[in-house]
Amino acid sequence: AKPEPLKVMISGAPASGKGTQCELIKEKYGLVHIAAGDLLRAEVAAGTENGKKAKEYMEKGMLVSDEIVVGMVKERLLQPDVEENGWLLDGYPRSLSQATALENLSIHPDIFILLDVDEETLVERVVGRRLDPVTGRIYHLKYSPPENEEIAARLTQRFDDTEEKVKLRLQTHHQNVEAVLGIYKDVMVKINGNLSKEEVFGQVDAALSRVLEEKTAAASEC
Ligand code: AP5
Repeated sequence: AKPEPLKVMISGAPASGKGTQCELIKEKYGLVHIAAGDLLRAEVAAGTENGKKAKEYMEKGMLVSDEIVVGMVKERLLQPDVEENGWLLDGYPRSLSQATALENLSIHPDIFILLDVDEETLVERVVGRRLDPVTGRIYHLKYSPPENEEIAARLTQRFDDTEEKVKLRLQTHHQNVEAVLGIYKDVMVKINGNLSKEEVFGQVDAALSRVLEEKTAAASEC
């Protein structure tokens, strides 16, 4: 029998490289990338009621309330392309209540990747991060500079990417991470995220290949 597609969660502090690794994972494994932060920023940009409420939390570096986030991610996870291609959940779940909401829907990952990065590096990554509004690609002024002047001229910065805000986001991360890790400890793989993006992907890719091989072997026994 054909193995079920991969189900992956990726977690880590703000600017630990989740979005960057997701671009590479998506390219190689074809999973549907669902990023809670991106879904929220789309609501903010569209000026919806949920977007207005969400922005208040995001500006303070706090978790947006479950009332907004849980339904939003669930709705995306239940789309047919997700069942067909597998999923890559980025920045979700971030609290015990969000993890419990997924467990109640019988949604479990094959692997939970934790990117481990030193705090000093995180701050440097946040303040240098830029986004391309046309392609959605993530850049860094020093580590992943734009390919040409045209792209450089249109890059934008996130409203929560200041040194002051990242400290608040980090606090929120530390308050919640242990509870989430407790739920996924059986499938957790901790990865050194301080290395270059290619070296980090080398570790992520090796871990995902292993899981895929195990799933394929299990399916062929059925
Ligand atoms: P979210 O958008 O998820 O932000 P975050 O967790 O703070 O993570 P980031 O997107 O900042 O960083 P990243 O890990 O993706 O790093 P990136 O690859 O860009 O959430 C924002 C807000 O939304 C939250 O504060 C909260 O309010 C709300 N929210 C989100 N999820 C929620 C939830 N589940 N529940 C409630 N509220 C929620 O990399 C960062 C930079 O470093 C880039 O410039 C990149 O080029 C560079 N870089 C990456 N990797 C490397 C490397 N290996 N070497 C050198 N540079 C690198």
